[in-house]
Amino acid sequence: MFPRDFAWGAGTAAYQIEGGWQADGKGPSIWDTFCHEKGRVFGEQNGDEACNSYELWEKDLECIQQLGLTHYRLSLSWARLLPDGTTRHVNQKGVQYYNKVLDGLLACNVSPMVTLYHFDLPQALQDQGGWKSAGTATLFDSYAKFCFQTFGDRVKLWITINEPYVCAKLGHEDGIHAPGLKEPGVAAYLVGHNMLRAHAMAWHSYDCFYRTEQKGAVSLAINSDWLEPLHAGRTEDIAATERQLAFTLGWFAWPVFVTGDYPETMRSAIDARSKKLGCSGSSRLPSFSKDEPAILGTADFFALNYYTSRNIEAGGGYGETLCMKSDRDAGEVLDPSWPICGVSWLAVVPRGLRKLLMYIKDAFNNPAVYITENGFSQVGQLQIEDVQRSEFYKDTILEVAKAIQEDGVNVRGYFAWSLLDNFEWADGFSARFGLFHVDFTDARRSRTIYQSGREYAKIISKYKCAQSK
Ligand code: GAL
Repeated sequence: MFPRDFAWGAGTAAYQIEGGWQADGKGPSIWDTFCHEKGRVFGEQNGDEACNSYELWEKDLECIQQLGLTHYRLSLSWARLLPDGTTRHVNQKGVQYYNKVLDGLLACNVSPMVTLYHFDLPQALQDQGGWKSAGTATLFDSYAKFCFQTFGDRVKLWITINEPYVCAKLGHEDGIHAPGLKEPGVAAYLVGHNMLRAHAMAWHSYDCFYRTEQKGAVSLAINSDWLEPLHAGRTEDIAATERQLAFTLGWFAWPVFVTGDYPETMRSAIDARSKKLGCSGSSRLPSFSKDEPAILGTADFFALNYYTSRNIEAGGGYGETLCMKSDRDAGEVLDPSWPICGVSWLAVVPRGLRKLLMYIKDAFNNPAVYITENGFSQVGQLQIEDVQRSEFYKDTILEVAKAIQEDGVNVRGYFAWSLLDNFEWADGFSARFGLFHVDFTDARRSRTIYQSGREYAKIISKYKCAQSK
C-alpha cells in the first residue's frame, strides 16, 4: 500500500521536449550548440523541434490527465527565461510560457515538480567557462532566485540540478554530452564541485527568502545504479564496489546528506594520485570553502533517478592515464544474467531499486525519497503494444511497494521517465522512453498512448482507489 498523498508522476526535460529553440527570444543553450555540430548525436539529430511542447503543451496536459497523474516533473529552460544566463535581461515570453504550463497543470489538479537545470546551460555562460567556472554557481543562484520569485507561488517541489554526475562525467570527461569536453580526471571534479556549490547556494536562498511564505521543498536529483560485487565473497570486488559507489552516488550524496564533504574514499584516492602525478601541488578534487554556504543539510528530500544495476569486479580500470576511472581503479562488468533492454547501458533490474532504496534509508538517515526518474526504452521497430515495458512498470512499482511496506523506506513519490518519447540526448530519437509515443515524422507530433502508458494509468487508479478507502 502507498501513502495517501503519494505522488504518482512522470517526467520530462525542457530540451528533450520543447523545441522552439529560437522561438520568442530564447537564447541558445549548450545542447543547441552541441547538436548543431557534426557527429555529436545519433543521426545528427537535434532538439530544434523535438515534441514541440513549446506549442503543444496542451496536448501534454491531455496525456497527463489520461494517465491520472497527481504530479508532473518538468524542467525550465534557463536560456528561454534568461537568454544570456543573467537576470539583466528577462525574456517575458519565456515567463509566459511556463506560467501557462504551470497554471494549466494546477487547473487539472496536477502538482508540478520543477527542475531548474536539466543539462541545458545557456551558451553565453559556457562561453565564459561554463560549469568549470566558479562564477557559474553564483549566476545559477540568481537564476534560481528569479524562478522561486516568479513561479514559487505555484511550485512546491523543486529540483535544483538534475544528475550532476551525468553533467560532469558525460559532458566533461567523456565528451558525449554537451558541452562535449574531454578533459579526463580534471574537469569533471571541478564541474561537480561547482554544481554542488550552486545547488547549496540555491537551497540556502530558498531557505532564507522563500520557504516561510511558499512552503515548498528543494533537493537535487542524484542518479545512481544499484551496485553489487561480481563475486559476493571476494574482498577485492567488495572494496571495488564500495569505491565505485563513493565515486558515483557518494560524490554528491555524501556532501549533502552526511558530512558536508566528499566521501573519504574519493578524497584519499584522488589526493594520493594527484600527488603521484605531480598535479602542481594541489589535488584535482577541489575543497569546499568555509566562507561559502554549507553544503551539508541542503536537501529537503532525497531525489533519486534509478535505471539499472551493475556488478563490479576489481581491477578492471587501472591505467596510467589521468582519468576518473584510474582514480577509482575499479572495473564495471554488467552481469550477463541481467537482460539488456532498449539502450545499451540499461539492464532491467527492478529488484535493484528496492535494494538501493534500503541502502539510501540506512546511509542517509531515513530521508523522504522521491524516485524522480525510472524507466526503460524501446529501440528499433516501434511497438505500441510494448508488453515488456508494461511488465517493467508493474514489477518495478511492486518493488517500491515492498520497500515501503516491508523495509520501511519513506518513499513519497514515483515519477516514470518519461511522459513522452523525446530527444534522448546522444541517442537522439532512437531510444523511446515515453509512456506516449510521439510521431516525429508528423508535423503535428501526434501522441499515442503505449500499452505501458495504459498499464501505468491502471496501476495509479488501482492504488488511488485503495488509498481513498
Ligand atoms: C537521465 C536523464 C533523462 C533521461 C534518462 C534516460 O540521465 O536525466 O533526461 O534522458 O536519463 O536516459
